[in-house]
Amino acid sequence: MQFTSDDKTLKDGSKNARLEWGRKLELRKPELADGAEIFTLVESCEPLDKNSVYSYLLLCHHFADTCVVAEEGEKIVAFLSGYRPPGREEVFFVWQVAVDPRMRGRGLGKLLLQEVLRRPASRGCRFLETTISPSNEASQRLFCSLARDLKARSTVTSCFSEDHFGHENHEAEPLFRIGPFLLEQVI
Ligand SMILES: CC(C)(COP(=O)(O)OP(=O)(O)OC[C@H]1O[C@@H](n2cnc3c(N)ncnc32)[C@H](O)[C@@H]1OP(=O)(O)O)[C@@H](O)C(=O)NCCC(=O)NCCS
Repeated sequence: MQFTSDDKTLKDGSKNARLEWGRKLELRKPELADGAEIFTLVESCEPLDKNSVYSYLLLCHHFADTCVVAEEGEKIVAFLSGYRPPGREEVFFVWQVAVDPRMRGRGLGKLLLQEVLRRPASRGCRFLETTISPSNEASQRLFCSLARDLKARSTVTSCFSEDHFGHENHEAEPLFRIGPFLLEQVI
């Protein structure tokens, strides 16, 4: 899907009134050739975990239907990874959302979430789950904003404790769950 700064569909059909793109922005599935650039983007997006390039190649290769990149010109400026957890047909799990620091605060993070929920690969999903560390306020705000748009409840329960991370000295990652919702509510 392509958007430009004067794209009527986006402005009229979206609640993201703050979206003002200077140039053309394309949202698409990632390809294998994107893996290394996604790794570099994620590296610049603290406090995200820095996974290996290999893990991003796997996402591009096997999970492209449930991942999104936003490209401005030739440059990847945002990325979302997610998947449908095996055996949990109503759930979409979001792993990472990374928006280039220069592109934040303009609705792009939420646009990635909306894009992935619109895909055929999300058919049948009524709940969105992710884990968010307590100190990551931007991420909490992003998912609360999505819950509001979807007119859905959100709950937080324990999930990965600090101990689960062993010696990594990693904050706990409680589970943030939004739903039930109707995919038709996605703008
Ligand atoms: C979290 C992140 C993806 C948000 O991306 P973004 O494009 O700036 O978010 P959006 O512009 O779509 O904002 C969505 C909502 O979150 C709010 N929000 C976003 N960043 C915020 C911040 N730093 N402080 C407070 N609110 C914030 C916005 O105000 C908006 O809320 P609203 O709809 O009620 O007005 C981005 O800050 C980022 O890449 N952070 C580093 C990586 C990370 O922590 N990823 C998330 C964990 S997986």
